[in-house]
Amino acid sequence: MKEKRDTLNRRTFMGGTLGAAAGIGAAHWLTGPAEAAAAQQGPPGTSASTGPGLYRLEADVRHCEVRGAIPSDLNGAFYRVGPDPQFPLVDGNIPFDGEGHVSMFRIKDGRVDYKSRFVRNDRWLAQDAAGRILFPMYRNPSMDDPSVAGLSRSTANTHIINYKNMLLALKEDSPPSAMDLLTLETLVPNYTFDDLLPSRTFTAHPKLDSETGNMVAFGYEATGHGSDVVSMFEFTPDGERVWDATITVPYVGMLHDFAVTRRYIIFYVIPMAFDAEQMANGGIHWSWDSTQPTYFGFVRRDGDGSDVRWIEGPTRSATHVMGAFSDDDRIYVDVEMSMSNPFPFMPMRDGAAWNPVAGASHITRLSVDLGPSTPQSYSIEQMYPHQGALPRQDDRYNTAPYRYGFLACPDPYAESRREARACYARFDHQTRQDTLYRSEEATSLAECCFAPRSADAPEGSGYLMGLATRNDQNRRSDLVILDAEHLDEGPVATVMLPMRAPGQVHGWWVPESQMPG
Ligand SMILES: [Fe+2]
Repeated sequence: MKEKRDTLNRRTFMGGTLGAAAGIGAAHWLTGPAEAAAAQQGPPGTSASTGPGLYRLEADVRHCEVRGAIPSDLNGAFYRVGPDPQFPLVDGNIPFDGEGHVSMFRIKDGRVDYKSRFVRNDRWLAQDAAGRILFPMYRNPSMDDPSVAGLSRSTANTHIINYKNMLLALKEDSPPSAMDLLTLETLVPNYTFDDLLPSRTFTAHPKLDSETGNMVAFGYEATGHGSDVVSMFEFTPDGERVWDATITVPYVGMLHDFAVTRRYIIFYVIPMAFDAEQMANGGIHWSWDSTQPTYFGFVRRDGDGSDVRWIEGPTRSATHVMGAFSDDDRIYVDVEMSMSNPFPFMPMRDGAAWNPVAGASHITRLSVDLGPSTPQSYSIEQMYPHQGALPRQDDRYNTAPYRYGFLACPDPYAESRREARACYARFDHQTRQDTLYRSEEATSLAECCFAPRSADAPEGSGYLMGLATRNDQNRRSDLVILDAEHLDEGPVATVMLPMRAPGQVHGWWVPESQMPG
C-alpha cells in the first residue's frame, strides 16, 4: 500500500490533475489552466522548501483596492476556509490534513477589509507549542503522539458557517471550532452545542431549513472511528435541539455531504471505504474499494430512524449535493458524480492506477420513485456536460424545490482542455440552460458562493463571488463579484489583494443582518 501511495502522492496530485479531478478537501481546489503551479507554491517570496501546500501567512489588509464598484446592496462578510499545514506533511499523508486557515472579506458600505487567521483549536495549539506535527496521519489516531491522547483531532479545515453569532469551522471527524465573526479569534476550540451534540462528529455540510431556519445536520462514525452509526439532529437558531435519531449504514464509507428535503434526509454511501488494515499499517482512514456498490438511503425527518431504506446501486462516487427536493411521488437529489475515485491521492484498494477520466465529476440527478413500498433502484441522469465537484445553490433553498445552481468548472465549450478558461456556471434546471462567466487567461477559480440581493429577493437574484488566482501575477488573489443573473457580463467589482490568499475548500456568505454590531 505504501508503494501505491508513493505513486499517487500529494506532489503528483498538486502537480498534474487538480482541475481535472476536483473534489473535496484539497488545499487549493481551483479550476483553471494553471492550478498546479498555484497549488504547489507558498506565499510570494518563499521557496519550494516550505513544502507543497504550506502558506501560513496570517494577514490583515485594510481598505482593499477595488476595481469597479461594490454594489450598494452587498453588505456582510464572505468567509473561506481550507487546509494550510502548520508543518510539512509527512510522507503518505494527504492534502486533506492541513490545519484550518480562515479568511474573511468584510464588505460594508463599499469598503472591503481582508483578514485571515488559523483556527487555534486544540490540535493547532498543541502542535504550535511542540513545534512539530503531533497528528501525522489523516484520521488515524493510532499514529498520534502520545502527548495528545484525548485531544480533539479536528483540523477545522473544510467548511465554515455562522451559528448563534459565531463562526463555526467544520471538519467532519470532530465537533466544530467556534470563532469570532469579526476578529476570527478562536472562542471555543471544541464546540459541542452546549453539550447537546449527540455525536462525536459533525458534518462539514449542515443544511438550513428553508422554512424554519433550523440547522439540520449529522455526524457519521458517530460513536468512534469505523463506527457504522450515523447520528442525525436538528437545532433551532437559538441552540435548542428539537430532534435527533440514529441509523446504521450498510458499510462505512465517506459521508461527506447529505441532502435534506421538507420530508426526508438522504444519504449516499460511496466506496471510499473505511480501511482498518491500512490504518493498522500506519496509513490513512480511507481507500477506494471498487468491489462495493453505492447505497441511496432515505429516512423521515421526524421519525426515530427505524424507517430508513437503503437502495443498492452501481459503483460511483458523489461527494457534494447541489440541491434536493421531494414530492409525494419522488425524491430528487442533484450531486456531482464520478464513475470512480475522484481523488488521485486516495489509495485504490485493488492496486489499480488512478483514472482521471473516471474520476471526473458532473452534475447528476439521482431520483427515487416512492410509489413502490420497497423501491428497488434509483435513477441516475447526468444533467450537464460541465465538469466540477463543488456545486452550490442559493442557500435559502437548501431544503426546498430549487431552480438555479452554480459551479466552478473549466469552459465546457472550449476547443481543448488546454484552451479552457476557468468559469463560473449558472444552471437553470427548468430550462436546462447555462450561463458562463469566463475568467481572464492564466486565472484559476475557487468554489463560488451566492449572496442574495436581500433576504426576500427571488431565488438566484444577487451576487456570485469567488477567489481568482492570477497565475501570471505571482499567484496574487482577487475576489471577483458577479451579478448572479448576468454572469456573462463579467465582474461588477474585483477586490484586489496584494498577495495570494490561503487555499480554500468551501466558502460562506453572512449577510449584514447576521453580523455583530
Ligand atoms: Fe465539501
